[in-house]
Amino acid sequence: NVTSALAFVPYQSTPTYSATKAALHSFSESLRIQLAGADTGVQVIEMVPPGVQTPLFGQQDSEHAMPLDDFLTEALDLLREKPDAKEIVVERARFIRDAVATGTYDDVLAMIAGS
Ligand SMILES: NC(=O)c1ccc[n+]([C@@H]2O[C@H](COP(=O)([O-])OP(=O)(O)OC[C@H]3O[C@@H](n4cnc5c(N)ncnc54)[C@H](OP(=O)(O)O)[C@@H]3O)[C@@H](O)[C@H]2O)c1
Repeated sequence: NVTSALAFVPYQSTPTYSATKAALHSFSESLRIQLAGADTGVQVIEMVPPGVQTPLFGQQDSEHAMPLDDFLTEALDLLREKPDAKEIVVERARFIRDAVATGTYDDVLAMIAGS
């Protein structure tokens, strides 16, 4: 499932998008456990991109978004290195993904709001 770093800290200009990504994160967590419990052999991996240069939100040329080729290379390398990973989080998305755990949530929320 493809969520977003915004699943973990929302962007106020895309409230519905951020909320649906948070919901998809939650759904993926439950689905992973259900499928493991049913012994299906189906693995649920959550892809957590940062801003990437694609036509989504018209940011294909934005210097604030990650070049698509760089994102794909890093994400696929992570998948190869950790085929059992629950989440694939490239370095650029890590500080957002871990904002709650690192106690930086309010700062990251304000930083994204100002971006
Ligand atoms: N780019 C980012 O910064 C970013 C960050 C975090 C997460 N994501 C997530 O990454 C995923 C891919 O996004 P992207 O950046 O690659 O965007 P994208 O380049 O705009 O691609 C979106 C894709 O979704 C398809 N699509 C759109 N509406 C659809 C619909 N109603 N039914 C079926 N297909 C539909 C489009 O098909 P057509 O080409 O036929 O229109 C296109 O292939 C999304 O889930 C997005 O939320 C992106």
